Order: sequence, then C-alpha cells, then structure tokens
Amino acid sequence: MTHRIAVIPGDGIGGEVVPAAIDVLDALDPAFEFVEGEAGDHVLTERGEALPEETYELAAEADATLFGAAGETAADVILPLREAVDSFANVRPARAYPGIDAVKPETDLVFVRENTEGVYSGIEDHITDDVTTLTRVITEDASRRIADFGFEYAAENGYDDVTVAHKANVMRETDGRFLEACEAVAEERGVPRTPDGASGEAVSEGIEFDDALMDALAMHLIMHPEDYGVVICPNLAGDMLSDLAAGLVGGLGLLPSANVGPDNALFEPVHGSAPDIAGEGIANPAAMILSAAMMLEHLDYGGAADRVREAVEGVLEDGPRTPDLGGDASTDEVTAAVVDRL
Ligand code: NAI
Ligand code: MG
Repeated sequence: MTHRIAVIPGDGIGGEVVPAAIDVLDALDPAFEFVEGEAGDHVLTERGEALPEETYELAAEADATLFGAAGETAADVILPLREAVDSFANVRPARAYPGIDAVKPETDLVFVRENTEGVYSGIEDHITDDVTTLTRVITEDASRRIADFGFEYAAENGYDDVTVAHKANVMRETDGRFLEACEAVAEERGVPRTPDGASGEAVSEGIEFDDALMDALAMHLIMHPEDYGVVICPNLAGDMLSDLAAGLVGGLGLLPSANVGPDNALFEPVHGSAPDIAGEGIANPAAMILSAAMMLEHLDYGGAADRVREAVEGVLEDGPRTPDLGGDASTDEVTAAVVDRL
C-alpha cells in the first residue's frame, strides 16, 4: 500500500528542511505519495488566509502529515492542523547525541504531552476591567488516554521509567483527576510504583512509574536527567518541560516531534521558521529528518526509521555539521551525507 503524505513546508527554513526530509524518504524502500499543501505567512499575504481550507483537508485526509514551520501565523496554522489530525498526544523526544556539545550528555527523555485540554482549552474571560480568568479543563477520558499512550510508548520504546508530572497538591481537582487517572491506568497495566528512596532509577525488571510535582521536576530534570525516561504531562507542563529539556541537549536544530491521533498524525520539528537564517541554506535539517523518522515508525516502517536515525546520528558525530552545531556545512551537504549513509 502506498501511503499518502501531506507535505506542508510553510515559511522560512520550513521550505529548506522539508525538502531535505523528502530526499531522505526518497532514498528508502517504502514508497510514498507526497501531496504538497500551502500554509503560513506568505499564504496570508497572497491569499488572505494563513491556512486555506484545502490544506486543512489535505492533512485531515492524508495518512500522515509532514509540517515544516510557520512564522508569525504559527498559531493560526499549527493549532488547526493538530486538530485536523485529531491529535491528542504530543510526543517530544529530547536526546543528547554523541559528538554534540550538550549541557547534559546523558539526557534521553521523551515528553508525552496531553495535547487537547488543560489551560490551552481556550476558555478565558474578561470579567471586569481588571479581572480576567482562565478555566483549566482536565477530563478523566483525556487523562486516561494520554496515560495509556505514555505507558504504551515506554513499553514499545524500551524506557523503564515513567514519571507523571502534576501539581495535585495545589490544583487538587484538576491535577488530582489527572494523577488518579494515570495511577488507575498504571494499575490496570500492572506497572508498579518505584519504591520510595529509589530516586527515579528503575530497580526491578520492566517499567516502573512515579509521580512528581512539576516545579521540583523542572529542577531534577536539569540536575539528573539520567534518572528519567518517559514523562507524562498535562498540556502546559509538557510545553514548558520539553523546551527546558531542549536546552539540555544542544538546541532546536535537533528536536523532532509527533502529534498523534487515533488514525492520523502530524510530524514537525520543534523549531520555528528561523527568519534570522532563512534563505541562507544553512538550517540544520536533523530535527525535520528525525521527525520523518518518527513518521516512519508511526506507519510501521520501524526498520526504515532505525536506519534514518542511525544515519543522522552518524552524521552528527562525524560531520558534516551546520553552523548551529559549530560546523560550516550547508543544509544540502548534511542531507547528502545522511542519504549517503542510507
Ligand atoms: P525559531 O525556532 O524559529 O528560532 C530560534 C533560534 O534557533 C534562531 O536563532 C534560529 O536560527 C535557531 N534555529 C531554529 N531552528 C534551527 C535549525 N533547524 N537550524 C539552525 N538553527 C535553528 O524560533 P523563534 O525565533 O522564536 O521564532 C521565529 C518564528 O517562528 C516566529 O515567527 C514564530 O512565530 C515561529 N514559530 C513557529 C513554530 C511552528 O511553526 N511550529 C514554532 C516556534 C516558532
Ligand atoms: Mg512551546
């Protein structure tokens, strides 16, 4: 079966790194039908809307979507596109790579972020001139769904430690519900709690889980990222903690992500359109290529995904490297080196 892939490069370096990912996919066995869609600042200027209906439909109907980045219109483009693919889970791996200067080279974390509710539900009110409010929505269904996804992800990807981030000591109703739902899912799956005093490091065979207050967790992630594996988070906490982890591993040019729904998914680098380097041909394609590897995995081409990751890791270690990683190579040279290894 040929998968139909929606390809939406967007603005700035999106238009440089997406073709790099396509070159890499073209070098593999799985055959894809790529269908390109327009979105972003330049589309707003030309057509009066940043995300034309046909691009939304393209993503909704494709087997998967590859998205580059949008500029100022990012919120008008990526939020509807995440909804078009019905994505409830945002998966953000933050790994350090050999040969790359990282604050914490031992970092290998995956944030599994609830992507539909929390404080991003969009329920804000302007009560009086000086009083505004925000409603934080946490539901049992969405919490169980993300917990189930997180534990499954850990099992399938060889992570022994699962941490549930929350602030249930203060947000007793909402994060109380989130934590209870995660605990219930752990129990159903037979995942035990890490015994007290084991400081995050798994001590038994198989997966263990623990919960952590998200503020203290932010500190522990910086000091001892090696104690953590998969971190299941409510929406805002996942947004913030994953960016914090990006800082541990050497920057935005390296971080891929997946927005996963029941039947569909969208893959995008964590970075934006990088107007400061757009057009120079020096954007690091690694984040986008690693996002394409996550797409391969999602479409059950696990072997091809591994080959792509190994090729990217090899190039990161031996070069050539783009300027953000201290090298002087172009996007095309790095991409060609990855394709060569394949
Ligand atoms: P950014 O991620 O575009 O850039 C931040 C810094 O990292 C810049 O110095 C940039 O040159 C560098 N950088 C990012 N990706 C890189 C890569 N692949 N290779 C080498 N260097 C890279 O974030 P910024 O500057 O905050 O936002 C720029 C524009 O992007 C804004 O208009 C913003 O709205 C948009 N944006 C879009 C996102 C999306 O479409 N998902 C996400 C974040 C920002
Ligand atoms: Mg963010």
